[in-house]
Amino acid sequence: MQLKDNGLRFSPVTVALHWVVAFALLGILGLQLAIGHASGEALRTELTRVQNLLGLMLFLVSIYRFWARITAYHPLPVGTPNPIEVIISRSVAVALALAMVLLPVAVWASRAAAGEGVTLPGGWSMPTLLPVNAVLKDVVDLLFNIGASAFLAGLALHVFGAVKNHFLLKNNTLKRMLGKHVEL
Ligand code: HEM
Repeated sequence: MQLKDNGLRFSPVTVALHWVVAFALLGILGLQLAIGHASGEALRTELTRVQNLLGLMLFLVSIYRFWARITAYHPLPVGTPNPIEVIISRSVAVALALAMVLLPVAVWASRAAAGEGVTLPGGWSMPTLLPVNAVLKDVVDLLFNIGASAFLAGLALHVFGAVKNHFLLKNNTLKRMLGKHVEL
């Protein structure tokens, strides 16, 4: 099995992990809504633990994914896009992969600086390691908010690019990311 991307195609690992990350992110956002609407404290705690577990999985998968992205060739684009668009779309993709490593770290650091552990299902919890410090928490929260806003803007551009390629340009860019073999 092809383990890494090359100039002609994405590896099945890249394709699978791309959608694992996309669905894990969707799960985290969905759980955030559910936590906001949860009726009791016990349910809120349990949903937060599941959300933390998803965040931890996202973080671990994303370390590999970011490394794989910057150490392998990105396959040639489908069709003949403007080179500036190719540079922008690839830079955004790398930034999205990096954000999925850095944002979970910021969440963990913020909670540690507030003196809260990140708890997981089954009573497990992540080590806090950082000192309890209100200023540190404020700085980390500010960085998280800036990073999360940039991430959401990048993600919107990324999804817009995928939709534009699929529906407007009617090429195989999205189908290739869904596993279709595309001859270049
Ligand atoms: C509905 C959601 C999404 C759609 C429709 C989508 C679509 C795509 C498509 C079509 C490509 C292939 C681009 C090419 O041929 O060069 C791609 C690549 C990529 N996407 Fe997404 N994407 C989505 C969500 C995400 C999310 C949530 C992330 C990260 C947080 C992400 C990160 C990446 C990265 C890093 C690549 C480059 C290939 C790789 O290393 O995985 N995407 N995406």
